[in-house]
Amino acid sequence: DWTMGAYREEMIAKIREEVGDRQVICALSGGVDSSVTGILLHEAIGDQLTCVFVDHGLLRLGEAEQVVSMFRDNYNLNLIHADETELFLGELEGVSDPETKRKIIGRLFIDVFQKYADQIEGAEFLAQGTLYPDVIESVSFSGGPSVTIKSHHNVGGLPEKMGLKLVEPLRELFKDEVRALGTELGLPSSFIGRHPFPGPGLAIRCPGEITREKLEILRKADAVYIDQIRKHGLYDEIWQAFAAILPMRTVGVMGDGRTYDYALSLRAVTSVDGMTADYYPFTHEFLGETSTRIINEVKGINRVFYDCTSKPPGTIELE
Ligand code: XMP
Repeated sequence: DWTMGAYREEMIAKIREEVGDRQVICALSGGVDSSVTGILLHEAIGDQLTCVFVDHGLLRLGEAEQVVSMFRDNYNLNLIHADETELFLGELEGVSDPETKRKIIGRLFIDVFQKYADQIEGAEFLAQGTLYPDVIESVSFSGGPSVTIKSHHNVGGLPEKMGLKLVEPLRELFKDEVRALGTELGLPSSFIGRHPFPGPGLAIRCPGEITREKLEILRKADAVYIDQIRKHGLYDEIWQAFAAILPMRTVGVMGDGRTYDYALSLRAVTSVDGMTADYYPFTHEFLGETSTRIINEVKGINRVFYDCTSKPPGTIELE
């Protein structure tokens, strides 16, 4: 009968047969799909795999370090940490239109990935964590096979442009099966159960212009919010929760003084697939306590709003 352990062995054999002694590159995002893809490939072909983690400077507090150390320390795989913060934030300077932000990030991601991939001699394959639902979607939407690095990187057409063949070991799996495979491969449950995080990262949680100051404030505030959710045992009940820093300052009082600082929006939703979502009904106590903690602990925020918009009509992200 069918088990994840048997599936894992079958996949490994298939990958070895497909790849032979050739070189494979894989873009790691830190998300579950690309991580499981990377680890499975690593088990199958070891040093013939090089993973590239493109750090666009729009990740959460401590996230880049966590991803890099998890892969280096636990799996000993070839990993390039491409810290391209300056490039991305430089190009995003002064940009506030949501679609323009996404386009800039998508284009730079391709450039950067290509730059690092060119340094890997003889790379013939590109591994990506396409899932079964992605396969169906791309067929029904574009009438052709899936040829993009996951849409979240917005880099359609990259493999052809680079002359690479695709390896997509998760093509037959649904999300819950990928999680089970990740567990089978030894990924920690805290990692497997992480909320989804969009490819453009904090850029779309910072409506209006992105500045380093806002990103720094947002990182700290988001970390306090998620800590609150974990402390109250709510993390696994929620599909996705995050803070967004609003493009406005408001007046407040603190001690004897007046403050004029940023306002923060907190969002949490339940969902099955991200297509529709309900806002999460936190208690007033939770919201009050969280707001107080954020304002006390994060310099630069003096007002906190809770976003109680469901999807539709809202989207999950603010941009
Ligand atoms: P929206 O905001 O469209 O989000 O309701 C639905 C789900 O998709 C995620 N999302 C993205 N994921 N690249 C991604 O990988 C993106 O550009 C992107 N935009 C939104 C969002 O976080 C939510 O889980």
